[in-house]
Amino acid sequence: MARYRIAWLPGDGVGKDVLDAVRIVLDAVEFDAEYVPGDIGWKFWCTEGDALPARTVEMMKTTDAAMFGAITSKPQDVAEQELAPHLRGKGLKYRSPIVRLRQMFDLYINLRPEKAFPGNPLNYRDDIDIVIFRENTEDLYSGVEFYPVPEEMFNLPGMDKVARDAAISLKINTPRGCRRIIRAAFEYARKYGRKKVTAVHKANVVRATDGLFLSIAKEIAQEYPEIEFDDANVDSFCMWVLKNPERFDVVVAPNLYGDIISDLVSQMVGGLGFAASGNIGDNYALFEPVHGSAPKYAGQYKVNPVAAILASKMMLDWLGEAELADKIYKAVETVIAEGKVRTYDMGGDASTLDMAEAIASKIK
Ligand code: IPM
Ligand code: MG
Repeated sequence: MARYRIAWLPGDGVGKDVLDAVRIVLDAVEFDAEYVPGDIGWKFWCTEGDALPARTVEMMKTTDAAMFGAITSKPQDVAEQELAPHLRGKGLKYRSPIVRLRQMFDLYINLRPEKAFPGNPLNYRDDIDIVIFRENTEDLYSGVEFYPVPEEMFNLPGMDKVARDAAISLKINTPRGCRRIIRAAFEYARKYGRKKVTAVHKANVVRATDGLFLSIAKEIAQEYPEIEFDDANVDSFCMWVLKNPERFDVVVAPNLYGDIISDLVSQMVGGLGFAASGNIGDNYALFEPVHGSAPKYAGQYKVNPVAAILASKMMLDWLGEAELADKIYKAVETVIAEGKVRTYDMGGDASTLDMAEAIASKIK
């Protein structure tokens, strides 16, 4: 029997292309796993009314971790039109399966390392090495939304200012939610000898929720006197990170700001072709490239698989297979530094699988 059971969830579009590339690399390091394929994605929304069928969730519960590719999401009106005729008009609501998985498995950490690889022609600067901790289960992603707003909500204090035809999405941040992501960021900094943690928020305006996040960050920072702590409003963070990226180290943010700043910073280190993420909880974790399903490239084996390969490297780290993870990381570094094999985003013409083979060939 294999040592690990991994849920294998390619999903939509280029999700399959990049996970095929990941397999080449995982096989090269002789990762001892059984890969269990799972149904997830737009096709299952159309045919079953659920992009994340219950059987997939049940299967995942029997595995150690999951590798996920990408998902296509469309607005509710299009989603309704694309449902099989017998499912239409039943009030089925499409909700992003990845957001649901994060909440279902309580994967409260979204870990996004953003490091510039030497020799990557797409680097904005070569001295960027920022690790983003994004809260992954609450905030504006809680899914508590109203449109139309129920009549009784207008009885709440302050609601007399709100127009009757408003739409409302609740930003929900709990002390527990703030605490565990902030603590994870500090623990990571301590473990890996990082010098500084920056909390990103908008507490000067969004006082209740971001005020809570910031005050908890200040409180936890005191338990880590060896680690420098500062904070920034999210808008000024965006400005400063472009101007002085070398001043940032570990960054922690609530869900939506974390989503946005991680795209910004990933673009500074090569774009979405290099951005990997780990959705990590106390008992389970799911790893994915940050990019989407890029339907126009689906099945063409054109996109850069490095993001997905780095996600699999994070999975190996999380499983405790640091040695294998390290091999993958070094191989990626070598291929990028040599600059001979480059996918289209890097100005080359190597395919998704050429890139994976090149990386595999550097694994000793
Ligand atoms: C990400 C993505 C997702 C998110 C989408 C696909 C729901 O942008 O992983 O950053 O917003 O979290
Ligand atoms: Mg995003």
